[in-house]
Amino acid sequence: MKLPIQISINQQQMTLHVDPLKRLIDVLREELALMGTKEGCGEGECGACSVFVDGKLVNACLMLMGNLDKAEVLTIEWYKHTERYKILETAFVEAGAVQCGFCTPAMIMAAETLLKICAKPTKEQIRDAISGNICRCTGYNMIVEAIYQAGQKGEFAWK
Ligand code: FES
Ligand code: FES
Repeated sequence: MKLPIQISINQQQMTLHVDPLKRLIDVLREELALMGTKEGCGEGECGACSVFVDGKLVNACLMLMGNLDKAEVLTIEWYKHTERYKILETAFVEAGAVQCGFCTPAMIMAAETLLKICAKPTKEQIRDAISGNICRCTGYNMIVEAIYQAGQKGEFAWK
């Protein structure tokens, strides 16, 4: 059974006719072609599917469409147009924090969440903030360094 769900995705209001048990990640990737949100575990363990729902960082693989009526969803495709994204992107490249890149969109979303609360975080705070995000490639040190540098150089952008 499909139901109409009113939802804002990347600041566009839309009504989607979907099975209320369908997962947000499937709607994003299959119906809206927003492929920046990745599916890793599908069980809420790896963080690869992180998006913002009503301003909170959540795992899109755990969100059911039936619970998202009137919700506001923002994905990495929206965040990519911000000045803050550019600061993080440059820091990730400079720190060599991207290998396969699978985890990167979600790492960037987690970094944005932290930097909004704390514009100049310590490395310990960064490790904590990305503890829900699995990266199989980099060993985390470069990612932590990238977010640290973004905080040091781009502090103004998150104030
Ligand atoms: S795919 Fe959602 S947490 Fe792993
Ligand atoms: S860069 Fe490959 S999973 Fe993180």
